[in-house]
Amino acid sequence: MTDPAAVQSLVEAVRNAPKYTAMDAGLVQALVEQELGKGRGVKETIKAVRNKLHQVGSAYQEKPIGYAQLYRRLAALPRDLHSPEIKPFCLEAMREHTSTRERLGFLEEFYSQTLASLGPIHSLIDLACGLNPLALPWLPLAPNAQLFACDIYTDMTGFLNAFYAHTGVNGRAFTCDLIHNLPDIPVKPVQLALLLKTIPCLEQVDKSIGRRLLSSIKAENMLVSFPVHSLGGRGKGMRTNYDQHFQELVSGLPWQVTRFDFPGELVYRLSRE
Ligand SMILES: C[S@@+](CC[C@H](N)C(=O)[O-])C[C@H]1O[C@@H](n2cnc3c(N)ncnc32)[C@H](O)[C@@H]1O
Repeated sequence: MTDPAAVQSLVEAVRNAPKYTAMDAGLVQALVEQELGKGRGVKETIKAVRNKLHQVGSAYQEKPIGYAQLYRRLAALPRDLHSPEIKPFCLEAMREHTSTRERLGFLEEFYSQTLASLGPIHSLIDLACGLNPLALPWLPLAPNAQLFACDIYTDMTGFLNAFYAHTGVNGRAFTCDLIHNLPDIPVKPVQLALLLKTIPCLEQVDKSIGRRLLSSIKAENMLVSFPVHSLGGRGKGMRTNYDQHFQELVSGLPWQVTRFDFPGELVYRLSRE
């Protein structure tokens, strides 16, 4: 068994670089333990864990997200989520996360088509959210809907909480590590869970995570999606391959599935049978 103090000191060493400081300590610790379990030494462990964290997180932030400026601009905005100044701010902010940015060209259709027939949303959790919670003004929300969002970054969840507070939305963002724990929220089942473009990302750490998430998330409905271009822009065959992969993941589970095809994203709406 590995000495807990040694593990903690490695966790601190990994996070002791600006790119990794805001990353969820629980995820960093789990990755450290995994690498030590392979018999790696101190330097190799730090390097391997940072590589993994880059793949699953920093790769989607080509440059550091400009939170200081976003906080300043947010403070100057009206407090009503539906005032005309809010959407342009959200669009601009969502550009700062690569994965969230890729959806902006079809954001309107994305939510109007995938959520049509669900009716007003009373409760929602956005899992591994990136900056997608800033798409709230495009969602058909019920008044005072309960909203939750989680990702591995403390600076991201801090900013999303400031956005919720500023606009008077009943929301809570928090850090999570979906590989090792599902978030425990007070609404069970939640009406809608979003798991957007996240399965392939998490599979880089744990190949069995897709099936686990699809069978254990307590939601009445889910939107699950896959990217159809890689971060580098290539996309040959991704739509067909991910469709095949998704069919395997969902096979035998009690979900009714509807497929939606957008230019950059393959989406499935899952509803309980
Ligand atoms: C491809 S991006 C998708 C972001 C967002 N869902 C969207 O589509 O706009 C994957 C997200 O997963 C987050 N992530 C990576 N590993 C995670 C983990 N173990 N638990 C929770 N989130 C994680 C990353 O920080 C990143 O924001």
